[in-house]
Amino acid sequence: MINKVNRVVHLIVLLPKNDRNSGYGLCRIPETIKILIEMANEKSLKGTQTEQLICASYLNETQSYARYLYYSQIADKEGLFPVGVIFRESADNELHHAKVFLKMLQDTEVNATVATEAGFLGKTVDNIQTAMKEEMEGGYDYYMAAAKTAKEEGFDDIAAHFEAIASVEKFHYDRFAKFLDMIQKGTLWKREKPVTWHCLVCGYEYVGTEPPVKCPACDHPTSHYICVEDGYCPAPAS
Ligand SMILES: [Fe+2]
Ligand SMILES: [Fe+2]
Repeated sequence: MINKVNRVVHLIVLLPKNDRNSGYGLCRIPETIKILIEMANEKSLKGTQTEQLICASYLNETQSYARYLYYSQIADKEGLFPVGVIFRESADNELHHAKVFLKMLQDTEVNATVATEAGFLGKTVDNIQTAMKEEMEGGYDYYMAAAKTAKEEGFDDIAAHFEAIASVEKFHYDRFAKFLDMIQKGTLWKREKPVTWHCLVCGYEYVGTEPPVKCPACDHPTSHYICVEDGYCPAPAS
């Protein structure tokens, strides 16, 4: 909203002082009117429940970003490199979700009370379970409820963003569940049929039921390989 006010002020300032009805000024009047109409139609978030939910979402996403980076470091130390990369990619997604919410809050000052569960830094199998709980309860369920509230308060566009981000959290949940299952069953680097394995260090790809013991290109061991079918996606552009 403030950005639009600035644009209107800027446009008015641009008009020559003694010539605001000249052709130079008139050509900018429709744009100014359009912005003023947009401002009049834009519902303010101030004091709404939706504003509180956006603020809580921003803080929770930034917290998840940090925690997933810690979890990725632990997974790497345990030699579970595919899990480390999945945590880092999920962290990147949460960082972008936080940015979406930050943009919604931009130029506002919000006083919000945010309940938070700090979690703990455990072993990777524990960390995945903490992440799954967070993805489902603090992510999918929370955002679907937030979308409902936003719709009730007349913020359809914000509701659509909550729903879209909820679908990403569900994807994260399913992927974490799959990796937990593979760790517990000992199948992180073992498949019944040949699949493509991707070296996380050098990018070499290998087809087989298991990755090579030593990467032919960079000499790193099996643990640095991930199956391309396990839902690893390149990080989105910033
Ligand atoms: Fe997530
Ligand atoms: Fe390699």
